[in-house]
Amino acid sequence: MISTLSLWEDLIFNLGYVVPMAMQGTFTRNPRWVGFWSRWHPDPAAVRFVGRLRRRHPGGVLALHLGLTKSLLVLDPDTVQHVLDNSPMVYADPKPKRDGMAVFQQNAVTISRGEAWRDRRRFNEAVLDADQPAHAYADQILAIVREEVTSAIRLERWDDFDGLFARIMRRVIFGQRARDDTELTDLLRILMRRANRPVKLGKPKEFAPFYARIRQYLDNPEPGSLAALCRQTPATEQTKVENQIPHWMFAMWETLGTNTVRALAAILAHPSAEAGVRSELAGADLAKPEVIAELPYLEGCLQEAMRLWPTTPMLVREAVAADTLGGVTVPAGCQVVIWNTFNHRDRAVYPLADAFSPELWVDGRPSRLVNHLSSGPQVCAGVNLLLFIGKAVIATLLGEGRYVLLEPSLDPARPLPYAYNVFEIRLRRRA
Ligand code: HEM
Repeated sequence: MISTLSLWEDLIFNLGYVVPMAMQGTFTRNPRWVGFWSRWHPDPAAVRFVGRLRRRHPGGVLALHLGLTKSLLVLDPDTVQHVLDNSPMVYADPKPKRDGMAVFQQNAVTISRGEAWRDRRRFNEAVLDADQPAHAYADQILAIVREEVTSAIRLERWDDFDGLFARIMRRVIFGQRARDDTELTDLLRILMRRANRPVKLGKPKEFAPFYARIRQYLDNPEPGSLAALCRQTPATEQTKVENQIPHWMFAMWETLGTNTVRALAAILAHPSAEAGVRSELAGADLAKPEVIAELPYLEGCLQEAMRLWPTTPMLVREAVAADTLGGVTVPAGCQVVIWNTFNHRDRAVYPLADAFSPELWVDGRPSRLVNHLSSGPQVCAGVNLLLFIGKAVIATLLGEGRYVLLEPSLDPARPLPYAYNVFEIRLRRRA
């Protein structure tokens, strides 16, 4: 059954939740608006509001507007899984995502459909070694992480971590000679800010220089870098290799940095979690990739931080063919929304929703409603790589010394807040 929201409910949903989320930035976060909304918004995950809507309109699928576009919000676990299991062949990229991402990565796999998606997905999986817990270049990648973490002058505030993850990303993807190529990352940041704008005014002037730089690295790739792997991996006319790379860049930089810092903050705020991580690290040889690839408890900490504060707050799709949702036929062109921030904190379905419980991940994803990395055929292609790098950073940091979380504080005795602003992170290193 599909229930339709009243005009009033639709208005509150959009003004109260969709607009604040969009103001914080769809493709890259805006620190000013993130600061404003995380301070003043009582329920940024819309948990109470959507919970009320569900009680008023049972059935698991709600018809509403996302901005000006008519959409279906799917809440029921079977329907959520059905949409993701059939992405992107039935449920593909929606227009706003395609238009926004085309500003900096036209032809990227995440905005591809049909045969083009299959071709680009195969290429992404091959270069990222998607089915391996440790990447073929795990030795080099771990050495890069360890060097960058131990040589950083200070790792206590967001800018320090932003710089750390930018350097790691540039070295992993393009090699040692890109380590200090801040112009490359500045260009990407500008392009992603343009992508955030509701109105896109043609191709920004930064587009050509950005891709010229990527091409330079691809034409003469450094051995041991992902750019070198790109040259060795079979590609077709359709693959558009250079357009696949910006996704790896922002995901290994801002997205992974944000999630790793939040996981570190949650570990430091929960003495039992810190003790669990430290006992897992004790006596382990953290310079060995096979050791980092394991560490199940630390991995659970990263997964829990991503669940609590998902950096992809919603997964949006557009049906490319008619299908049945909630027992009702929906036409091609219909937009479908999976609201991660709500699903992950829905206490009615998931009793431990507001607690930090890394041990729940030891046997895999604790609920089908938890989709911070998506799931199904279009699941994040960098899952193993991001977990490896995130664990390597935290293991190296905690292996080196002790940290105290100063701000924003987290109280393990209370339900964890719906937003955690990493731009305000303050840590103190103790000898
Ligand atoms: C903590 C860091 C990361 C998070 C939270 C994350 C999350 C996600 C999510 C939610 C999606 C699905 C988006 C959608 O369908 O709308 C996705 C897709 C993807 N991710 Fe990640 N990701 C992360 C890091 C990475 C890294 C490091 C890489 C590569 C180096 C990567 C590569 C990709 C690719 C290529 C896709 C598109 C897959 C497809 O459409 O078939 N991700 N990621």
